[in-house]
Amino acid sequence: MTETFNPQLLTGKVAFVAGASSGINLRIAQRYAAAGAKVMVISRSEEKIAAAAASVSDDAIGMACDVRDYAKVAEALAHCHDRFGEIDIVLSGAAGNFLSPALGMSANAFKTVVDIDLLGTFNVLHASFQHLRKPGASLVSITAGQAVRPMMYQIHACAAKAGVNQVTKCLAMEWGPAGVRVNAVSPGPIGDTEGMARLAPNEDFVKSSKARIPLRDWGTKDDIADACLWLASDASRYVTGAIINVDGGSELGDAGGDALNPPKR
Ligand code: HXC
Repeated sequence: MTETFNPQLLTGKVAFVAGASSGINLRIAQRYAAAGAKVMVISRSEEKIAAAAASVSDDAIGMACDVRDYAKVAEALAHCHDRFGEIDIVLSGAAGNFLSPALGMSANAFKTVVDIDLLGTFNVLHASFQHLRKPGASLVSITAGQAVRPMMYQIHACAAKAGVNQVTKCLAMEWGPAGVRVNAVSPGPIGDTEGMARLAPNEDFVKSSKARIPLRDWGTKDDIADACLWLASDASRYVTGAIINVDGGSELGDAGGDALNPPKR
C-alpha cells in the first residue's frame, strides 16, 4: 500500500536547537518548524538570536546561551519545557573551528574548540534528559568527517568530533531503555556556510575538493536539514546510536579519476 507522504512529520512536537543563529543549524530549526514543531533556538550571539528565532516561525523562542555554560544550558531547556511542554527533539550543533598547525595552537585554543563542540554537546544532551518526552524523544548531534578521518591543521576539531561520536553512542546505549534515541549527522563539505568559508581558501581548492568526492559536489544546508528531519521524526523510530554521513560519499576516501571512462591501458 502506498502511503501519502506527510510533510508535517513533526506536528505536535517540541524541538530545542543549539547553535542556531545561522548556517546549518538555523536551517534545521526552520525545517523543524516547517514540519510542524514548536521550536526554541539558542546561540552564543546576543545580537543574532532574536532575528534567528523570528526567521524560524512566529512562535519560535530564542535565548542567548553559550553551550559551554551548563547552568545556562539547563536554564534554557527548562524555559523551553515551561513554554512548550515536554521536549521531543534536541539538536546539538554548536561548533567552532579554525585552521592551525598543532604547533601554532595554544592549549587554550585546543580547549576552546573541544569545549564548544564536545563539552557543549555533552551539556546540551545531558541537561535535556529531565525535560524529554520519555519514551519518544530523539536527540541529534552534528558531528563531522573529522571524527573518523584525521586532518591536517584540525587537531582540535578532529579530537572534539571524535568525542561527539562516542557521546552519541554511549548515550544511545544508556538512554535507549527510556525510549530516548540518540544519533548524529555527519555533514561533508556544505556550501554557503561559515565553516567551509574558513576551511576552503579559494576557488581552486573548491574545484579540486569537488573532483575528489564520489557525488562530485558539495552538499547544501537543506541536505543536512532533511537528514535531521528524518532522525527527529518517528520515521526513524528504530534508529539509535547511528552516525549518518550526509557527505556525498566523502568519508569513503579520495574518489578522483574517472572509473566510468577509464583511460585505455
Ligand atoms: C590559532 C586561535 C585561532 C587561530 C583563535 N585562537 N583563533 N589560535 N589560530 N586562527 C585561539 C586564541 O588565540 C585563544 O587562545 C583561543 O583560541 C580562544 O580564542 P577566543 O577568540 O578567545 O575564543 P572564542 O571567542 O570562544 O572563539 C571561539 C573560536 C572562534 C572557535 C576560537 O573561532 C569562534 O567563535 N568560532 C565560532 C564560529 C565558527 O567557528 N564557525 C565555524 C563553525 S562551523 P589563547 O592562547 O590566545 O588564549 C564548524 C564546522 C566544523 O566549525 C567542521 C569541522 C569539525
